Amino acid sequence: MLPVFSMHFFKIFQKYKMNCCQEVFTGTEATKNFEEFLSHCHGKYSGIFILTDSNTRLHCLPRLQENFNIPQGSKILEIKAGEQFKTLGTCERLWHELAQSGADRHSLLICLGGGVLCDMGAFVASTFQRGMDFILLPTTLLAMVDAAIGGKTGVNLGHLKNYVGLFSFPEKIFVFTDFLKTLPAEELVSGFAEVVKHALISTEADFNHLLQSFPEKHSFFELDEWSSVIQKSIATKLHIVEVDVKEQGLRKALNLGHTIGHAFEAHALKRGGAPLLHGFAVAMGLIVELRLSVFYCGFPEKLAYEIIDYLLRIFPVYRIEDQDMDEILDLTYFDKKNRDRKIRMTLLASPGDVQINIGCSRQVMKECLHEYIALIESAPA
Ligand SMILES: NC(=O)c1ccc[n+]([C@@H]2O[C@H](COP(=O)([O-])OP(=O)(O)OC[C@H]3O[C@@H](n4cnc5c(N)ncnc54)[C@H](O)[C@@H]3O)[C@@H](O)[C@H]2O)c1
Repeated sequence: MLPVFSMHFFKIFQKYKMNCCQEVFTGTEATKNFEEFLSHCHGKYSGIFILTDSNTRLHCLPRLQENFNIPQGSKILEIKAGEQFKTLGTCERLWHELAQSGADRHSLLICLGGGVLCDMGAFVASTFQRGMDFILLPTTLLAMVDAAIGGKTGVNLGHLKNYVGLFSFPEKIFVFTDFLKTLPAEELVSGFAEVVKHALISTEADFNHLLQSFPEKHSFFELDEWSSVIQKSIATKLHIVEVDVKEQGLRKALNLGHTIGHAFEAHALKRGGAPLLHGFAVAMGLIVELRLSVFYCGFPEKLAYEIIDYLLRIFPVYRIEDQDMDEILDLTYFDKKNRDRKIRMTLLASPGDVQINIGCSRQVMKECLHEYIALIESAPA
């Protein structure tokens, strides 16, 4: 019997299957099924390739090799870590490396990394010789609950995020929360924004469960709590994607917090200096969009303030001033959800009651941004 990851994170078996052939294993089922999957690889695949980035090669690959019987002869590929390398140039290099190493469409690519690596590895595998099998082993919180789920693959085109890609589903997804032990704290906190978003679009009970599991930031490092929270978060995303794979309707629920969040991210880039982590931008976006939800959808005001208070305790604030307002509002017009040059938002009438395509006026958005400025003034530095 092989040594396995410390399984105290997962006590409950969860397996989800989507009509688009997406299977996600967590907890002890992830270990059992990954072992089984590996045992069938020999003979099934002409070659096995493990894609890592410079960090996951250092921190995650050794764990994998210690705990699982990785087939002999598997080849390791490595890319540089970071969003700036999520490019067609990196893909081209990988396609060449695969070709030179004898990969063909009967080979398997194992993607071991965060959202950047999963998005790009899935794209490379799906297009190499018109498609080889791939599996995802997400190693960041964001990739576990979000990027690895739902079949969106691709890369950036210059500054245009995720502009080139396709929908393509992995053979299987195995989620091992043990990988979170080496994830830098700020990446863990950033990924948590998507967990909060999933809880808000799920049910009030899920949101309360989250509050109980992680009342404060320091509770993030009690890793026992992650199991059920990650499972619930994955279940929420899977449910939405299953109903609406190609974002015709319900999948837009996942955009909660993102219209303003993306505008904050773009604003931070224009300002220069360190880029704003995506999750931090989404968390601040959620604050503004909760205020908009109160105005447009009748979201209970008291509850909105409780959630905002929670967000301000967990996430670092993005500071803006009155003179930034017009630029930020202009940036929201670039959102892909807009139609006819009108801002269309995903908002909430209550936790779990998502309203999509809500037209928002510039004036009301301005007022909500003013409120945001007042709220962050009293938040911790
Ligand atoms: N496909 C989708 O539906 C979807 C959804 C959300 C986000 N995304 C994409 O996900 C990307 C962001 O993903 P991310 O936040 O995971 O960033 P990331 O992949 O860049 O990972 C963050 C950093 O953590 C390092 N790292 C990863 N796992 C580690 C571990 N276990 N220990 C130590 N270091 C580790 C990485 O090397 C990197 O430096 C973006 O490109 C975004 O577009 C895709």
